[in-house]
Amino acid sequence: MVKAVVLGAAGGIGQPLALLLKANPLVTELGLFDIVNTPGVAADLSHIATPAKVEGFLPPDDGLLKALKGADVVVIPAGVPRKPGMTRDDLFKINAGIIKDLATGIAKAAPKALVLVISNPVNSTVPIVAEVFKKFGTFDPKRLFGVTTLDVVRSSTFVSEIIGDLALSKDVVVPVVGGHSGVTIVPLLSQSSHPLPSSVDASAYDVLVNRIQFGGDEVVKAKNGAGSATLSMAYAGAEFASKVIRALSGEKGIVAPTYVNLSADAEGGAALTKELGQELAYFSSNVELGPGGITKINALGKITEKEAELVKAAIPELVKNIETGVNFVAEAY
Ligand code: NAI
Repeated sequence: MVKAVVLGAAGGIGQPLALLLKANPLVTELGLFDIVNTPGVAADLSHIATPAKVEGFLPPDDGLLKALKGADVVVIPAGVPRKPGMTRDDLFKINAGIIKDLATGIAKAAPKALVLVISNPVNSTVPIVAEVFKKFGTFDPKRLFGVTTLDVVRSSTFVSEIIGDLALSKDVVVPVVGGHSGVTIVPLLSQSSHPLPSSVDASAYDVLVNRIQFGGDEVVKAKNGAGSATLSMAYAGAEFASKVIRALSGEKGIVAPTYVNLSADAEGGAALTKELGQELAYFSSNVELGPGGITKINALGKITEKEAELVKAAIPELVKNIETGVNFVAEAY
């Protein structure tokens, strides 16, 4: 019995994500909240022959709190997406306020829910959610996740393209660490389940890393002003949500990269901090999942010199992004 809630459920990501959650047999209740159109999206999805009972909510009459009541898992793709020429950080001004309000609703109506943040800039929106929860005394770092799965999905696809067999892509696993924007996205290709062919020389490696880090720009450009990745993001978001839901339902041994507060696992967080050579409140690494959320944060493990350089380049950007999120909430109260 799992209740999943999507906040921003009528959007480009929200609708296909809600569809994929409706198709998940472990979900028995699906709450959809947005500032527009959720009654229609809910009515449409409710005709699909799967277990989840679907309900749509709008802001009037405490719609947010009603949508969230009893939620086990809350996924947040609410907010504005990028247009050509914009970075994820350019979205901050608008999305920060939206995330703060939605986090306030979660703190009030579903303080025990596992919260999965998709809205960009993830490196800053996750700290915003945490700071709001702290204000309400409901912050549990084990229950908060920044969704970086699209970077993982892209890595699997691009590596299998290079190997020359797209059918492999569902099996290719590449840990992606750091954060979710530009240089903070660090694929650990040396740890790929399927090694790169020897034809990949240093310059081809750089091209691949750059494509993983800036793959989102390909979509923004191709959509030509109509937004950023929605369908691939919905797929990735549903993949990650499904892992969280399977762990919640008792399945063991589930591991996924995700952007988390390192205090979620003091021991694992300390080991990771030692590897990074610097204290960081948030970082994306492979994380083990259990019924209460994060059970263990894994260390980076053996990485190449080149990967160590990429991690080093990610750190100053992450520090800045985290500070931006924390300061936003400090100034808002
Ligand atoms: P969209 O504009 O199609 O949909 C956003 C939805 O949020 C709209 O339906 C809008 O009505 C809703 N919304 C706005 N304010 C709201 C509020 N206060 N409460 C509830 N809902 C609200 O945008 P799209 O393409 O679905 O992107 C959503 C977010 O996801 C963006 O911030 C985008 O940058 C981010 N994103 C994240 C990725 C990741 O890898 N984590 C990948 C791609 C996009």
